[in-house]
Amino acid sequence: MTRQHSCSAFALTLLAGLAVVAPSDVAAQGRGRGGGDETPPALSYRQGVMSSLQAQTGGLRAIVGGDVPYTSHVSLKANTIRDLAMMLSDVFPAGSEGGRAQPEVWSDSADFAEKLAALQSSANHLAEVASGGDLAAVGEALGEVNQTCRGCHTTYRARAN
Ligand code: HEC
Repeated sequence: MTRQHSCSAFALTLLAGLAVVAPSDVAAQGRGRGGGDETPPALSYRQGVMSSLQAQTGGLRAIVGGDVPYTSHVSLKANTIRDLAMMLSDVFPAGSEGGRAQPEVWSDSADFAEKLAALQSSANHLAEVASGGDLAAVGEALGEVNQTCRGCHTTYRARAN
């Protein structure tokens, strides 16, 4: 696989290959930001899931706070947040060190898994509450979700440069 392939073919090949790539190969693909290299696909993918979480929790906060009128999106957004939180279970495989992920993600993996489970269970709760349509209750459940984001980032995400 070389850079001479067209970009999209290159990305598709890499994505298709991810499942069978040995963990050490994932790390060998690059060291994340700051090294001058392009961000490896496994890291871009992970960061994309995180950014989506931020976009969706921010959007839901805007609806609940009355900044935008899209109350018909409340349940859709809550379900999306729940689904994105589930995806996080897969995006920190051994060998995918890099980006702003601290090494403790892998060296303290039991505690990291607990922090992730806290997000997933609060996101499940959010989705349930959202189906009831009580905006104040949704706001509260969303606050709990946001606490679990901070609860993990404090330890496991490096500060932005
Ligand atoms: C279990 C731990 C954990 C939880 C829970 C968690 N994150 Fe993260 N988050 C991380 C780590 C680690 C990184 C750094 C990933 C990297 O750079 O590869 C990160 C990165 C991010 C980023 C930066 C993405 C980028 O483009 O570089 C955003 C935004 C973010 N998280 C938002 C959220 C939001 C919003 C939530 C809650 C809804 C959340 N995260 C929950 C661990 C977590």
